[in-house]
Amino acid sequence: MKIAVSGKGGVGKTLISAGLAKGFAERGLKTIAIDADSSPNLAVTLGLSAEEARKITPISENKELVDSKTNTGYSGVYRLTFSVDDIVRDYSMLTPFGVNMIVMGTVHSMGSGCMCAPNAVIRELLRHLIVERDEAIVLDMEAGVEHIGRGTASHVDVLIIVADSNLKALEIAKRIKDLAKIAGMKQIYLIGNRVMNENQKKAIVAFAKKNNLEILGFVPFDQGVIEKDMQGISPLNFKELIAVKTIDNISERLIEKNN
Ligand SMILES: Nc1ncnc2c1ncn2[C@@H]1O[C@H](COP(=O)(O)OP(=O)(O)O)[C@@H](O)[C@H]1O
Ligand SMILES: [Mg+2]
Repeated sequence: MKIAVSGKGGVGKTLISAGLAKGFAERGLKTIAIDADSSPNLAVTLGLSAEEARKITPISENKELVDSKTNTGYSGVYRLTFSVDDIVRDYSMLTPFGVNMIVMGTVHSMGSGCMCAPNAVIRELLRHLIVERDEAIVLDMEAGVEHIGRGTASHVDVLIIVADSNLKALEIAKRIKDLAKIAGMKQIYLIGNRVMNENQKKAIVAFAKKNNLEILGFVPFDQGVIEKDMQGISPLNFKELIAVKTIDNISERLIEKNN
């Protein structure tokens, strides 16, 4: 099962990506979570300390690695075919929740055709992870929409769009959905996050109906999540938090749907 999680910045993509990945791992799936956001923070939500997270060098910034893969000895000319399975082996980290994680670093709109060497490595690595690997993959995507539907990310089995009831988040959700449809993505689901009351829920339901989107679940607003995040501790350590419990349930539903 290959899943990408998208949506406006700040809607809860990282919390949901990490929660789903943890849920898959706990249900016995070998799982790799990919941080493809340009300001990566998946590591802490997957249970690493802030200090450990700071030490991670994103793949795109690992000059030595990028050079070793792409350097031809001629400036401006780089190799186009190289192995990346060893990158998964050597640069993924096992996090405390049993999920392996890879931090990609900045991906200049995935698949945009930019020809710089770090992008070539990341593109190939993403392709390998999404198309060739057996593990469950959860891709925590960059905010925005430009990259949706282009490049290998469109080969995932499931695209999850996260939105809260804010108009802006819903507008972006609609744009993502339109681009994903054009790209031929089949399973596109909405998760309503940070839902505080019935009115907010209704707004998300109305949006989903209008746009013909299946809602995978509603994650309630949870003060506990904010507090743990503020302390630099992953909220996912606290199974009693209602938001955490709900995301865990959604991971089970996704497994059922994709079996
Ligand atoms: N269900 C929720 N209830 C309360 N706060 C939430 C919830 N989901 C996310 N948040 C908070 O919203 C902020 C953004 O979440 P994050 O997962 O980092 O979003 P994104 O990855 O989309 O930018 C974080 O401070 C997080 O604690
Ligand atoms: Mg994020």
